[in-house]
Amino acid sequence: MKITVASTESDFDAAAASRIVGQICARPHAVIGLSTGRTTGNIHRLVWQMRRLVNFDTSRLTFFGLDEVTGVDPEYAGACRRMLLTEIIEPLGLRPDQFLILPTRSDDFDTACRDFTAELQRRGGIDLLMLGLGENGHLGFNQPGTPFGSRAWKTVMDPALETRIRRETATPADVELGGVTLGIADIMRARRIVLVAKGDNKCAIVRRMLEGPVSEDVPASILQLHPDCEFLLDSKAAADIDIDKLRQS
Ligand code: GLP
Repeated sequence: MKITVASTESDFDAAAASRIVGQICARPHAVIGLSTGRTTGNIHRLVWQMRRLVNFDTSRLTFFGLDEVTGVDPEYAGACRRMLLTEIIEPLGLRPDQFLILPTRSDDFDTACRDFTAELQRRGGIDLLMLGLGENGHLGFNQPGTPFGSRAWKTVMDPALETRIRRETATPADVELGGVTLGIADIMRARRIVLVAKGDNKCAIVRRMLEGPVSEDVPASILQLHPDCEFLLDSKAAADIDIDKLRQS
């Protein structure tokens, strides 16, 4: 298993941002998937700061969002679209056609999901997917129990996450939040994955993801089977794992 442990938060952010920048430099027309949340915001900001130093070509790149909150306006502060626009897409000055994300609202999410994954394929498939990790092991909005064979779909919001989003964005109680996400099977089709996790609150689930059985109870455990997945952790998130043993597996 490929496990990288960064000793400080700034080393962690720099290592993760360099994975994205490295992918763009290696393949300027790359298709790169991004996740939102507390772990990735600084990583995204560092990407455009790095571009000020090294003027790499972003004119052919596609970024896309792994998942989206539903039931809200696309400009809603807690929508993944708005977060990614603010954190990385707008500062890089990308064109609208260089950013794909599932809709917050649709009369037909099944078709929207099929169109979204078809467009990713049309652009050559996913070169790099940077994944955050939910405290219960979720990937995107694929909660524990999601079949490993799932394709992009309209799912439900994890109650703990919903509470946090409502608190951080002052969402009125009458707005019903949901989620739409790439499925586990879509995630596993990415040619390369970097799973990023930092902080004490991720320590227990990192251990279950890496040392536990591959099980739908812990969606992220499927990544043990991906042929090119790097687990990029900070020392707090890695505190409970036996790194030397895992690196040999
Ligand atoms: C949410 C998002 C995921 C993200 C996860 C981790 O569930 N839908 O895409 O990976 O949170 O978020 P955080 O980094 O804030 O812990």
